[in-house]
Amino acid sequence: MLNKVIFVVSVLGLVAADNLVCSDSFCQKYRDENGCSNVALACRAQNSTHNGRLFSAPVACSCCETCIENIEVDDDCTLGSLGSPIPHGRCGPGLTCTIQEDEHTTCQQMTDTACLIERTAYDTGRLDGSLGHLMQRASCDDDGGYSPIKCIPGQICYCIDDEGRRIFGEALNILGIEVLMKCECSRQEIALTTVLNTDMRVPFVRCTETGSFDRLQCIKDLCVCVDAHSGFTTSSVVNITTHEMKTLPCYNGSGYEDNNYHRDCEVQKAELIQKLHEDARKGVFLVDASEPLEFCQPDGYFSRIQVNSTHKFCADKYGKPIGNYAARLKSTEATNMTCNCARVELVLKEKNAFEIPICCPNGNYRKLSCRRGLCYCTDENGNQVTEQVHHDDIRTLECYDDENYC
Ligand SMILES: *[C@@H]1O[C@H](CO)[C@@H](O)[C@H](O)[C@H]1NC(C)=O
Ligand SMILES: *[C@@H]1O[C@H](CO)[C@@H](O)[C@H](O)[C@H]1NC(C)=O
Ligand SMILES: *[C@@H]1O[C@H](CO)[C@@H](O)[C@H](O)[C@H]1NC(C)=O
Ligand SMILES: *[C@@H]1O[C@H](CO)[C@@H](O)[C@H](O)[C@H]1NC(C)=O
Ligand SMILES: *[C@@H]1O[C@H](CO)[C@@H](O)[C@H](O)[C@H]1NC(C)=O
Repeated sequence: MLNKVIFVVSVLGLVAADNLVCSDSFCQKYRDENGCSNVALACRAQNSTHNGRLFSAPVACSCCETCIENIEVDDDCTLGSLGSPIPHGRCGPGLTCTIQEDEHTTCQQMTDTACLIERTAYDTGRLDGSLGHLMQRASCDDDGGYSPIKCIPGQICYCIDDEGRRIFGEALNILGIEVLMKCECSRQEIALTTVLNTDMRVPFVRCTETGSFDRLQCIKDLCVCVDAHSGFTTSSVVNITTHEMKTLPCYNGSGYEDNNYHRDCEVQKAELIQKLHEDARKGVFLVDASEPLEFCQPDGYFSRIQVNSTHKFCADKYGKPIGNYAARLKSTEATNMTCNCARVELVLKEKNAFEIPICCPNGNYRKLSCRRGLCYCTDENGNQVTEQVHHDDIRTLECYDDENYC
């Protein structure tokens, strides 16, 4: 694991360096010198017979775009494989390339992704009247994966990956939130963490609390502005040791002190990585039996679960305990701890909201929630997962366990 830390640090150093070179002015120059080939008719027409999707072309810094035509239902397609060239066409939205009985492949309706199955179950439930009143219809993308946010009425929306798993990023559930919140940064961040199999690396991208890209990105003392949704650079690189951070056009004084980009948590984490690095070089391998904890969030603040010598506890973004939400180390309550409810309680209280969920002593959502006299089962993120019943009928709920809700 320690060797991996070193490897990761150096790889990301290179990625970061590459990243900084790709700017709008670089692409302008690239296009002036090399030109981009015309995008195919399908992407220019975008009508019912000719339509397609634009992707970055495989040229330096993805400075050009290329069109991949949407193939219609029952038309022939090819299954991509590793190393095969980029096809000119692929099955259109909601379709997938399927092998037929005679062994040739055609585009057919997708039905079997987790998101599509969940959406169909919702639609069936609406017809037969078995839906809970707070349940939300799953929103799926063109490939049948989950759209980036999931919302709980009256509480928050949070980011999910394309398989529907919760990832970093949340915001109050307000009207129009799906336009502002697309979780591009947290989806990139989780992909990287999964590929590299560690959170202990020099962060090369910082997200905002809602999962977009922080407009200001720095690696050591080099800083650059990026677009909040694409992550592409929008300014030239500034060395903040020689020029103040406020010379960057995206600089916003709130949240930074003394020309210092890095937040307390990131500084502490960098020291920790440095130490692992040095120990590894000396050949000392610390054996840490405790489960690894994610120390900082992708926005550079403290993660929701923190630990001291005796307890795990729920923390706000500055690392301070939220209420008394805690559990003794190694207890079941500690193993299962999410602090999801504790963090939501915190933001709703700050907004003086009327309806605040009741959390378990370890900061998790209760398995059974009641609202306006109706009760239902909830999952670990606070979503309603069964029909609601009147409070008097609470014993009929599958999650009912003799007043034991945590
Ligand atoms: C779609 O656009 C193409 C190219 O402009 C044209 O040839 C075709 O007739 C159009 N189809 C429809 C249905 O409008
Ligand atoms: C930024 O400028 C300082 C002072 O001139 C220099 O020491 C440092 O190496 C520069 N940083 C980079 C990454 O070039
Ligand atoms: C700076 O950021 C804060 C918090 O994101 C925002 O409320 C404020 O309007 C921003 N200020 C400027 C000048 O953009
Ligand atoms: C650890 O945190 C818990 C919960 O906040 C607190 O009750 C306990 O006193 C703390 N222990 C130490 C040693 O700081
Ligand atoms: C809590 O942990 C126990 C055992 O460690 C497990 O069986 C149970 O499913 C967990 N509960 C939740 C809500 O995660």
